[in-house]
Amino acid sequence: MIKTRVTDLFGLKYPIMQGGMHRVSTAELVSAVANAGALGFLTALTQPTPEDLRKEIERTQSLTDQIFGVNLTILPALEPPPYEEYAEVIVESGIKVVETAGRSPEPFMPAFEAAGVKVVHKCTSVRHAKKAEKVGCAAVIVDGFEAAGHPGEDDIGSLVLLPRAVDELEVPVVACGGFSDGRGLVAALALGAEAVSMGTRFLCTREAPVHDQVKQRLVEASELDTQLILRKFRNTARVFKNSVSEQVAQIEKLPESEFADIAPLVSGARGAVVLETGDLEHGIWWAGVSAGLVHDIPTVAELIERIVADAERIITTRLGGLTS
Ligand SMILES: Cc1cc2nc3c(=O)[nH]c(=O)nc-3n(C[C@H](O)[C@H](O)[C@H](O)COP(=O)(O)O)c2cc1C
Repeated sequence: MIKTRVTDLFGLKYPIMQGGMHRVSTAELVSAVANAGALGFLTALTQPTPEDLRKEIERTQSLTDQIFGVNLTILPALEPPPYEEYAEVIVESGIKVVETAGRSPEPFMPAFEAAGVKVVHKCTSVRHAKKAEKVGCAAVIVDGFEAAGHPGEDDIGSLVLLPRAVDELEVPVVACGGFSDGRGLVAALALGAEAVSMGTRFLCTREAPVHDQVKQRLVEASELDTQLILRKFRNTARVFKNSVSEQVAQIEKLPESEFADIAPLVSGARGAVVLETGDLEHGIWWAGVSAGLVHDIPTVAELIERIVADAERIITTRLGGLTS
């Protein structure tokens, strides 16, 4: 049994989290993660309206009696979604843990704190991690350069980012970016983390509501199959390499190119088609370098049990055997 401050904080069986994944973190996946003893997060913005989020939370509650959370990704937008209303629904639905990302959760802290909702902020730098602690987050997730999604602009891998954050913070730190198996969990714990959070690995489970061809492609993929795009616009994204991401990268290289030139290519609507239909070249879809460590499509429960059993074996047998 691996017990940490994070398992204590949220009453978890295992120190494992499933990061919020737009269009993937729905009731099916999140309830499976919760029932397997880990902590899953629905993505608020996958639901078109706050009322839809309320229904998705209810649907998840009907599938599990274990704790689960909601991810609130706060991104700059010309017409931002009604974040406050999504936050209200989270509080009213009795959710007790929120994963925030994108921006500091500071504006939302008073409402969450008043309702006893613990905020776990996900960020990509030590300075943002310190800010998250300062504004009252219960734990901080540090997303290394390996991660799917937005790994930030500093390009610091988990091997350094994680212990740097652990050295600077009092609150528990969760490792994220590049983790997928028992070896990764042990490494994260050795570096001072109190849990791991994974995205790409959970995308490739039976319960993830995406087309089987997406999962098969991840199984075939190596660690060389992701690509960084949008660096020019300081909004770096790690995505699965395909003809669309190559096209974006080519346009970005042109000195005169602007975001408007690539906006149609990176649209969320096109990415959604990939996940729904399995047409892998239809748009941009997110994946991390841990794709190179994904070799099968287990159920969530099989995956979590395997990670924990492997980790315990590594700690007791392999590492224990190295000391005299
Ligand atoms: C398909 C997909 C969608 C994602 N969508 C979001 C999102 O909406 N909000 C967010 O905070 N992170 C999002 N992420 C990032 C994950 O929550 C997590 O931080 C990341 O996948 C960790 O790196 P890993 O893939 O190496 O495990 C997404 C990741 C994937 C693979």
